[in-house]
Amino acid sequence: MEKLELKYEGKAKRVYDTDEKEYFWVAYKDDATAFNGEKKGQIVDKGLVNNQLSALFFEELEKAGIPTHFVRLLSDRDMLVRRLDMIPLEVVVRNIVAGSLSKRLGVEEGFELSRPVVELYYKDDALGDPMVNESHVAAMGWASGETARKIQEMGLKVNSILQGILVKAGIQLIDFKLEFGIYEGKVYLGDEISPDTCRYWDIETREKLDKDRFRRDLGKVEEAYQEVYRRVKAVLS
Ligand code: C5P
Repeated sequence: MEKLELKYEGKAKRVYDTDEKEYFWVAYKDDATAFNGEKKGQIVDKGLVNNQLSALFFEELEKAGIPTHFVRLLSDRDMLVRRLDMIPLEVVVRNIVAGSLSKRLGVEEGFELSRPVVELYYKDDALGDPMVNESHVAAMGWASGETARKIQEMGLKVNSILQGILVKAGIQLIDFKLEFGIYEGKVYLGDEISPDTCRYWDIETREKLDKDRFRRDLGKVEEAYQEVYRRVKAVLS
């Protein structure tokens, strides 16, 4: 497998063409950003953790019937993925109130929702990723109504599967963000599933084990990323 031209550079990953047209080469970076790029830094070995942890989750999701873009690991920091036609939406699923929902509703972080909440955001850095609903998605032509419903359903299924794994690792899944795309006419899960894109709290101590440690200058950022990876790997091996 050969890495060819750089196609896209995001905040946390670089995406390259490969000599096989249907695949992309994804290289995970240690660069960290928050608040729509306003805060910048580095988290040592984040690329390594996010690549390998995402691979573990993608493999489990595939086994449970969720199609994902993951093909195989190429190195500690690189993976081969299917070349999806990305839907410009972020699907956020929440079990416990935190982050922007806490601010928006004026509810304290840690409030347990009686059922999972699914939200859609339109991916646009300049607009700060505004929240939208299913009717905006269909009316704007970002995806069909059917696809908009499907990605929300898939989000809830991913939530159940991840919760099942994480609880065994002593981790509470607070919320997370997913991205989807179309490949050969079918909806696939893309992007990554990592401490950058999820909130994880230790079940016992409620200590934060995710990017909020970087966002909020809580310290022990690297340790938290390594800890989640170590625990999930132990559960799945
Ligand atoms: O900021 P907010 O509370 O809406 O984030 C909800 C979840 O989605 C968090 O786990 C956060 O890490 C993730 N997220 C993300 N990328 C974004 C926005 C949110 O990974 N652009």
